[in-house]
Amino acid sequence: MNYQSGFGNEFASEVIAGVLPQGQNSPQRVAHGLYAEQLSGTAFTAPRHSNRRSWLYRIRPAAVHQPFEPLAHATFHNRFDEAPATPNQLRWNPLPMPSQPTDFVDGLVTLAGNGGPGEQAGVGIHVYTANRSMQGRFFYDADGELLIVPQQGALRLATEMGVLDVEPQEIAVIPRGVRFRVELISEADAHGSASAASAGSAGAARGYICENFGALLRLPDLGPIGSNCLANTRDFLTPHAAYEDVDGAFELIAKFQGALWSAKIDHSPLDVVAWHGNYAPYKYDLRRFNTIGSISYDHPDPSIFTVLTSPSDSAGTANIDFAIFPPRWLVAQHTFRPPWFHRNVASEFMGLITGVYDAKAEGFLPGGASLHNCMSGHGPDAATFEKASNADLSKPDVIGGTMAFMFETRKVIRPTRQALASPQLQDNYHECWQGIAKHFDPSQA
Ligand SMILES: [Fe+2]
Repeated sequence: MNYQSGFGNEFASEVIAGVLPQGQNSPQRVAHGLYAEQLSGTAFTAPRHSNRRSWLYRIRPAAVHQPFEPLAHATFHNRFDEAPATPNQLRWNPLPMPSQPTDFVDGLVTLAGNGGPGEQAGVGIHVYTANRSMQGRFFYDADGELLIVPQQGALRLATEMGVLDVEPQEIAVIPRGVRFRVELISEADAHGSASAASAGSAGAARGYICENFGALLRLPDLGPIGSNCLANTRDFLTPHAAYEDVDGAFELIAKFQGALWSAKIDHSPLDVVAWHGNYAPYKYDLRRFNTIGSISYDHPDPSIFTVLTSPSDSAGTANIDFAIFPPRWLVAQHTFRPPWFHRNVASEFMGLITGVYDAKAEGFLPGGASLHNCMSGHGPDAATFEKASNADLSKPDVIGGTMAFMFETRKVIRPTRQALASPQLQDNYHECWQGIAKHFDPSQA
């Protein structure tokens, strides 16, 4: 699939040549009888460098649908105060794949979060499992942008502004308000050999979602690193315009102030024939990350692994950082090479997409999750500590075949009641540190 390249560009795309108005955004009549509509992702008056909006030229305006009614959902919400937050280190096994027909919206389960859409800060942390495509329904999130991290199974994200195909080790970001449908795509489809029409039998998909209530995710500043490295701007991909001109009895699902709402809609809302602007979905292949680490001694702070950041009102203190732990060489000398033991004022939710995380030899499974909250001690398990403490540092070591990630937030990450009651919650996680021996001997160097 062909995409537009860059992060936050002034993109422009049209399925039918000549639809985009020249020299203005809102002509008296748009070509081919389309409607012009602005989609604002930041305040009208946000500073120019952070101002994000797009103009959509569509078959019908987004306003055309029946009234919304509340839609019950048993496991997807933003209630982060229903259980006491715990200082315990927590770890979950992967959620099982659904046994009943389940689409992306049905299969959303909220594990944790903080803040909320009302205060426009914080995150919701969710897992999705699905075994079929969304059929006849469309979804948008008015509460935050959605950072989608597939762990198993490729997804086709058919959005108002075009189509994104994402597979595990890629991520996608759907901006707040953008309507979309999630299809499961099979291996064959993922490599471009067939349409997604048969996607209902494409197997199962699972992944993580960070629902960002705060400032839009952006690339971190690079400081002394310079003008390249970490996630490079040109590797972010935004779809070309694509539209459906389809009438029918469809459902539009909105997430609004922590709850779901459903409205009847008699046409596909994915009817944008052309658009331009800098507020649009995008994807990024985590395998493109240009990883920076120590080439002398001592592991740097893991902020060196930041892919995207949502700043807060306090300088340098993110609402959420999205960091990854990709394959990399370890060459540092006279030092402990893995991440060190630490306690952090920020709170850390981790997931594993594939492979083995270098600080945990076992127990942290692909599709699983861990949570280390503000000032909760954590670090390598006993086996990893002993191995790294005795490793031959005359040789470089390589960490291959893995991709872990972290959602790190300034506010404490509060697990939901269902996450704390989940059979996937490991009751013995703390034991991974109990084997850490006392080596202290004042008589030895
Ligand atoms: Fe940590």
